[in-house]
Amino acid sequence: MNEQGSPQAGTNLDPWYHHYAERAGGLRASEVRALFAVASRPEVVSLAGGMPFVSALPQELVINAMERVMVEQGAVALQYGSGQGVPALREQILEVMALEGIRAHADDVVVTTGSQHALELVSKLFLDPGDVVISEGPSYVTAMVIFKSYQAEIDHVPMDENGLIPEALREHIASLKAAGKRIKFLYTIPSFHNPAGVTLSWERRLEILQIARENDILVLEDNPYGLLYFDQPAPDAMRSVEQDGVVYLGTFSKTLAPGFRVGWALAPHAIREKLVLANEAAVLSPSSFSQLVISEYLSSADWKGQINTFRGVYHERKNALLGALDEYLPELGWTNPNGGFYVWLTLPERLDSKAMLPRAVTELVAYTPGTAFFADGDGHQNMRLSFCYPTPENIRVGIRRLATVIRAELDLLDTFAGTGSLRAAPSGRQFGAPPPNLS
Ligand SMILES: Cc1ncc(COP(=O)(O)O)c(C=O)c1O
Repeated sequence: MNEQGSPQAGTNLDPWYHHYAERAGGLRASEVRALFAVASRPEVVSLAGGMPFVSALPQELVINAMERVMVEQGAVALQYGSGQGVPALREQILEVMALEGIRAHADDVVVTTGSQHALELVSKLFLDPGDVVISEGPSYVTAMVIFKSYQAEIDHVPMDENGLIPEALREHIASLKAAGKRIKFLYTIPSFHNPAGVTLSWERRLEILQIARENDILVLEDNPYGLLYFDQPAPDAMRSVEQDGVVYLGTFSKTLAPGFRVGWALAPHAIREKLVLANEAAVLSPSSFSQLVISEYLSSADWKGQINTFRGVYHERKNALLGALDEYLPELGWTNPNGGFYVWLTLPERLDSKAMLPRAVTELVAYTPGTAFFADGDGHQNMRLSFCYPTPENIRVGIRRLATVIRAELDLLDTFAGTGSLRAAPSGRQFGAPPPNLS
């Protein structure tokens, strides 16, 4: 290390430290990644990860599809394919999107290696250093990693129980413009938000599209969870009303399985052409094998029935999580998602979810601290609880353990500070401030 604390060549563990491009600085491992390695031990109830419960997908369905693909079109499946994706699958993707009100043409669909790769490609096309991406606060952590790796700034607009707040969006756009910033797009997860669990109302979808139109801002609509609703479907996708100003991202990761790594972008014509070129430059072609297996699955299996099965599983788990919160931590505030995988919990003001995590893992429960979901260090008072993977019984065990940790933490603070006991988070409407109990 030199006096400024930066490593010199030959004195640090990475001899190439000084050779990396500036943008590589945005690629940082999460501070809690090491803890998550511990949290994956079987005795720990992990409410941290967002892994779909793929065991609810009967393996025969996939095996049958794979077998048929290999017998009937093995040579195609094992070969490079089109950079835009298999035409038959792109047609079937139209049927999937139609369930959320989208009418489109297969020419405008680009198949990607998961929607994660679509996020990467869109960022590559649009982001220069210093550009601004507006996103909800909190937002999906690995989208923000990409935006930062393109040296973009992230501006968080607050949400409430109906999603992104249009008035706040207007204010943020005005002040960013006044500061001379270049806003490149609005990144939004309107349905069953990761991590907040809330859904943007229909009225707000229309209003936000109108704001984007007025201000010439592209909307990047990321919708991995839309079909995984519990009681009622989410409002139709924003793309269903606006074609020219929205790039829509979908995926088979949550409605089928993430192991296929197949997602897609639906984009206005000109953007779509560039996306295909960027896709080819990055991967030549998305996996022919995965695409053909999914295409076969969609034509021969009851895929809508399978999505219903997933919905039932996740609904039961959400009820287990909220029931356990009611029982063990009734004083706290949390969101009540009508779909997806996540609940956003608000702690008493004095607690810090990140600082508390090692103690939680020692007590054999893990969660994701709220700070992971803000680019600006906010979120200490929050955590994301994922109900997708553990069984309902384990979810209850996990919340009981979490309650023990929270109470012990408050007792400790009381001992040292002599201040009050566990109390409800003060009411407030936005996630920047503690939200009310929305359950
Ligand atoms: C909001 C959001 N977008 C995108 C992704 C990426 O999904 P995939 O690349 O598996 O399609 C995820 C995964 O959890 C997500 O939660």
